[in-house]
Amino acid sequence: MEPRHFLSLPDISATELRALIHRAIELKALRARGDSHEPLRGKVMGMIFEKSSTRTRVSFETAMIQFGGQAIFLSPRDTQLGRGEPVEDTARVISRMVDVVMIRTYEHAKIERFADFSQVPVINALTDREHPCQLLADMQTYVEHRGDIRGRKVAWLGDGNNMCHSYIHAAQLLDFELAIASPEGYDPDPDILRGAGGRAHLIRDPESATRGADLVVTDVWASMGQEEEHLDRHRAFAPYQVTAELMQPAQPDALFMHCLPAHRGEEVAADVIDGPHSVVWDEAENRLHSQKALLELLLCH
Ligand code: CP
Ligand code: NVA
Repeated sequence: MEPRHFLSLPDISATELRALIHRAIELKALRARGDSHEPLRGKVMGMIFEKSSTRTRVSFETAMIQFGGQAIFLSPRDTQLGRGEPVEDTARVISRMVDVVMIRTYEHAKIERFADFSQVPVINALTDREHPCQLLADMQTYVEHRGDIRGRKVAWLGDGNNMCHSYIHAAQLLDFELAIASPEGYDPDPDILRGAGGRAHLIRDPESATRGADLVVTDVWASMGQEEEHLDRHRAFAPYQVTAELMQPAQPDALFMHCLPAHRGEEVAADVIDGPHSVVWDEAENRLHSQKALLELLLCH
């Protein structure tokens, strides 16, 4: 049987995404009660990280341990992949040994090539193009705090980057409006935007984006691999910092999310991320619960 991969949010249907969020909430409650649930006893996850990580690594490793399995952390410094062994060969070898592979890398095409040659499910744990696992947690967090997101307005402020692309996918799948305020030159991929069926649109002005928003989201100005562009980006993105003033036109009970790590005083003001609208710590915790639900979907059905 062909393995089921999760490289992009639309790899699961809207119905599956809604069910996954529901299951993540159940798994969170199960854990809070102290009940053990070990559907992956004896299973192993290979974790390939070509970029740094705190949340993704800890949440996937913890998920595997709590599910009765184990995880192997593989950095390019330690594997032959880092010395130029072809990704296709690496995929064939690793997937003969482990039960699921999680990859964080640069080019999206690389994870697609890996998946083409893998016998087991491959999960995108962030590429330059997308971060679908983060959206599982973000959508769970919204539902927990405010219920169904269908018909709501979400404002994206800042870079049209990997996180923005996955938000565009979520807008289409869960049927909410996504208003994207990005400076010129930092737009999301037009093909991804076109695919959103009109649910996502580009608005340059940050205040128009946050007006009436139920959720305001941002991300770093320079993603991993773009550190040298930091100065140019700092200039371009300064008006897009999520400040208390920019939160003002949003709904009074609007939520604020950020995938983290955050830079206070850059993309978000300290009084916003540490203030009453912010749910970033629940959002970070939900990486664990939502990825457990994802592992069940990919490995237990
Ligand atoms: N949000 C997120 O993916 O965080 P890490 O880079 O710490 O994994
Ligand atoms: N856009 C950020 C997300 C980090 C989780 C990056 O790619 O570095």
